[in-house]
Amino acid sequence: MTKDLATASPGEMQGDDGERGVVYYGDNLPILQEMASRSVDLIYTDPPFNTGKKQARTQLRTVQDPGGDRTGFMGQRYRSIKVGSQAFDDDFDDYLAFLEPRLEEAHRVLSDSGSLYLHLDYREVHYAKVLLDGIFGRDCFLNEVIWAYDYGGRTKRKWPPKHDNILVYVRDPERYHFNVDDVERIPYMAPGLVGPEKAARGKLPTDTWWHTIVPTNGRERTGYPTQKPLGIVRRIVQASSRPGDTVLDFFAGSGTLGEAAYELGRRFVLIDENEEAVAVMAKRFADMDAVRFAGRNARQHRLVENQGRVLS
Ligand SMILES: C[S@@+](CC[C@H](N)C(=O)[O-])C[C@H]1O[C@@H](n2cnc3c(N)ncnc32)[C@H](O)[C@@H]1O
Repeated sequence: MTKDLATASPGEMQGDDGERGVVYYGDNLPILQEMASRSVDLIYTDPPFNTGKKQARTQLRTVQDPGGDRTGFMGQRYRSIKVGSQAFDDDFDDYLAFLEPRLEEAHRVLSDSGSLYLHLDYREVHYAKVLLDGIFGRDCFLNEVIWAYDYGGRTKRKWPPKHDNILVYVRDPERYHFNVDDVERIPYMAPGLVGPEKAARGKLPTDTWWHTIVPTNGRERTGYPTQKPLGIVRRIVQASSRPGDTVLDFFAGSGTLGEAAYELGRRFVLIDENEEAVAVMAKRFADMDAVRFAGRNARQHRLVENQGRVLS
């Protein structure tokens, strides 16, 4: 905890005695690359969509012109004229190219009993599934969890999309950890049909989770725009890790995984490249013991341990 933040590496951070969590500020790829193989028991991560850039393409047509700048068939001279330019959205290709090396690292750092939960939306999930099948192997695909909610406007031009998709992969289908007994049970929809004892115990969730979004007011709300509900992330931590395990979120945002992990006695490693996210986490974890913040460039942004303050 007294280590110079400028020189602390993610490998060192993981091994520190008594440390309950580390928040690392920087691009996740080089940080993941420094982490030891098989050192993490659970990854929950929720990447941003739309990381790519707009591409602009100019359409040209060539016309015959003795004074033109290009020579073509039979030595004829031509010149190019611009007939239009088209800006198009190339975000998706960029997005997969952005995700792939990070998911390869995610696979490498997972322990033999480890699992990856990748939180996506309906536009990306199918492509990400193919990508992960290639990285983990199809036999390592465990589930697609649907998180269904009911919030916001409803288009009348199609079925209003009201769910997120969470792909679950395991490092080794023979050895992965999954403990349903640790998962909080949920009420039966028709408790009158199952008898009082069962109704009191509740039932196990399936792969379809009805859960509200983060309430717009209330203690849980951090103000970070893409914050995910603690109830969703807590359930993942309960099922797929044990007390004392190390859990990782390399697109950490407001640090929801950190809060769930701390509450349930798991160590956490969180990474985010957005200073605002790190500031939100600093505030969120201000009352927690043994949580350390480390900056990638301590000269530019020195993050103060445990104090919840970011100094420029
Ligand atoms: C959808 S948000 C995560 C929200 C989070 N699950 C929560 O509950 O608050 C995605 C996060 O990824 C971060 N991010 C995007 N690209 C990154 C990169 N290359 N390295 C680290 N973090 C990145 C963004 O700053 C953003 O906070």
